[in-house]
Amino acid sequence: MASLTIRKLDEAIKAELRVRAARNGRSVEDEVRVILREAATDALPTATTEAPSSRSATSSERLDYRSKSNAIQNITLIIGGGIAAYKALDLIRRLKERGFIVRCVITHAAQQFVTPLSASALSNNRAYTDLFDPASEFDAGHIRLARDCDLVIVAPATADLMAKMANGHADDLATAILLATNRPILLAPAMNPLMWDNAATRRNVAQLVRDGVTLIGPGTGEMAEAGEAGVGRMSEPTEIADAAVRMVRPQRPRPLAGKRILITAGPTHEPIDPVRYIANRSSGKQGFAIAAAAHAAGADVTLITGPVDLADPAGVNVKRVESARDMLQQVETTLPVDVAIFAAAVADWRVANEGSQKLKKTQGGMPQLELVENPDILATVSHLTQRRPPLVIGFAAETEHLLDNARSKLARKGCDWIVANDVSPATGVMGGDRNTIHLISKDDSSDDGFHVESWPVMTKDDVAAALVDRIATTVKDQTS
Ligand code: C5P
Repeated sequence: MASLTIRKLDEAIKAELRVRAARNGRSVEDEVRVILREAATDALPTATTEAPSSRSATSSERLDYRSKSNAIQNITLIIGGGIAAYKALDLIRRLKERGFIVRCVITHAAQQFVTPLSASALSNNRAYTDLFDPASEFDAGHIRLARDCDLVIVAPATADLMAKMANGHADDLATAILLATNRPILLAPAMNPLMWDNAATRRNVAQLVRDGVTLIGPGTGEMAEAGEAGVGRMSEPTEIADAAVRMVRPQRPRPLAGKRILITAGPTHEPIDPVRYIANRSSGKQGFAIAAAAHAAGADVTLITGPVDLADPAGVNVKRVESARDMLQQVETTLPVDVAIFAAAVADWRVANEGSQKLKKTQGGMPQLELVENPDILATVSHLTQRRPPLVIGFAAETEHLLDNARSKLARKGCDWIVANDVSPATGVMGGDRNTIHLISKDDSSDDGFHVESWPVMTKDDVAAALVDRIATTVKDQTS
């Protein structure tokens, strides 16, 4: 990694940097770090392909969210002097898990419970303890800790620290930061229930809330003091870390909140005997990507998948099945839903005379496999008279006459939309990461009764996001 020597920069740039640094209360070195970090964040790719013309505003908001959530964010964590300080060490890890850079400030009282060494080891950053520390004040220490961050957390926030904050004291590093910061503040109070109930604490808490400070907890439970219980326990580190995320990261739009979505994905395996089966080359990637995108849009998602080598998408209820009949059964138990998307490459036929033992080579030549048709899950669900989902979407993977086949499939299967894609070997769609989609829906106003929209080549993730956006708009129109 190249290093940068500020001394060697042009005089005019140095002068400009000094002014910027002074204005922001940072050292020149830190100002350069901030500029570089911002430039790197701006340069992060937000989308790998051009947005399709069909993509609605929600999609660009989603991509915008993605870029913001990738930005590295700093937290100044002030550890106050209470027994709950030990939990602040776990909080450092929880914050780092969520992608934050954590710099710790440990009050004198807190050092009775945790050491700067443990805080710096866990945060991978120097831990700060003193207001008048030549090493850090040279670098505009408390101002930097107060401003060069996205959030200040105080955990545990003791009664004494909150009293000082409410009254604007600044006689140590922690209180000086809290007075100097122009960033949001999150307090996780922890104290004995009698201290929490004391009129002075009540007054201070009310003042801090009026000042715009956010509180999380305290919760109810047993105290460190033997036999004492009540309100005063510090919130758990994961709760505090989640609150931090909510405070500094824009909430992603959740246009499908409250909607139930069913998705089928992958191939099916149709047994020939206990060791052999009929299968196809479907990877399940597109269905899994749709499940993840629908979950990100706030939907309650059930993904029913045939055998694939993909991990469960986070937050999605995944049901793994083998055959078409298992898949149909799981689909039926998942109904009713608001939207059903059938992306699975279900085998059209299964073996009628499935062997209960492994078929053996015989003198008489090859065994005769008799095939019978599998249930068509998409057509079954589309033709339901009760519990038919308001929006049913099928896929058409074709190797020739794509649009003609897709149009007739839409009519034959009785679904509302068909997502058609060319899977001829030259396209690399089967098992690949990109897809070219034509979205076909019924349209009584057009000559042939169909509306066809062709999307540019996109990654399967972007196809999923665009499809989910389209679904969200349609579902909204249906309910409004
Ligand atoms: O007829 P074809 O297999 O091309 O139809 C594809 C669409 O029908 C896909 O949406 C697929 O998931 C669905 N399908 C189904 N059950 C079957 C066959 C196909 O749900 N037995």
